[in-house]
Amino acid sequence: MATHRVEGYDTVQRMLHWLTVAFLLVLIPVGIAMTHPAFRPLQDTLFIIHKNGGVLLFLVLVARVGWRLTHRPSPQPAELPTIHRRVAAFTHFMLYVLLFTMVITGYLRVVGGGFPIELLDALGIPPLIGTMRETATIISAVHKFTAYALVVVIVVHVTAAIQHALVHRNSVMQRIWPPIAPPAKAD
Ligand code: HEM
Ligand code: HEM
Repeated sequence: MATHRVEGYDTVQRMLHWLTVAFLLVLIPVGIAMTHPAFRPLQDTLFIIHKNGGVLLFLVLVARVGWRLTHRPSPQPAELPTIHRRVAAFTHFMLYVLLFTMVITGYLRVVGGGFPIELLDALGIPPLIGTMRETATIISAVHKFTAYALVVVIVVHVTAAIQHALVHRNSVMQRIWPPIAPPAKAD
């Protein structure tokens, strides 16, 4: 098998990046729909998808952070000003913080509210906390607020990525492009 130097992130990191995106494309709309009266007939199903999907995303996030800490990507293109790199690094860090906050507050809100998480029950994993309904209501507000903050940071992140690809036409997008069909290398 031919070997070549991988520019940017390795295959595992790329797969986990796009898997995270796929999860969020389901979790965010489902989260909004399930709290909207128009979707009441589907509410139970949407809650099951959202809660259990969130638990699966937690596993993806743990794998992703574990892999990332042990596999450094090659440095960003040298032409990027230092301030850009710092802003990008901070944005990426915030994305991880917000994602973990979402999963943890989601878990605390549901289990603290006395509701089941079917996947964990099926696996025989007991609740890590007892019922605390009042606190769960506060945590619910944190979950909601963090969801909006996450959407804002994702918009900033995606806008920057598209700008690198279409305006600056540098190799930033290639660094994380899905491993199935890497785009031709610029110049
Ligand atoms: C990154 C992961 C997650 C994202 C992006 C996400 C996103 C959202 C969004 C956008 C809402 C609607 C907020 C509103 O307008 O009220 C919501 C609500 C909710 N989410 Fe999540 N969520 C995630 C993980 C989880 C997990 C892991 C659980 C539970 C195990 C969970 C449980 C809930 C519940 C119960 C609600 C209903 C609102 C409430 O009564 O607190 N979420 N989520
Ligand atoms: C929708 C949710 C998304 C989340 C939560 C997310 C999260 C992240 C995170 C945390 C990193 C940093 C990886 C690391 O260094 O550990 C990253 C890198 C990257 N993402 Fe996303 N991403 C999302 C969507 C997208 C989309 C839609 C695009 C493209 C249009 C994109 C393009 C990139 C690029 C180009 C990088 C590499 C930046 C670099 O050179 O270091 N991301 N993403």
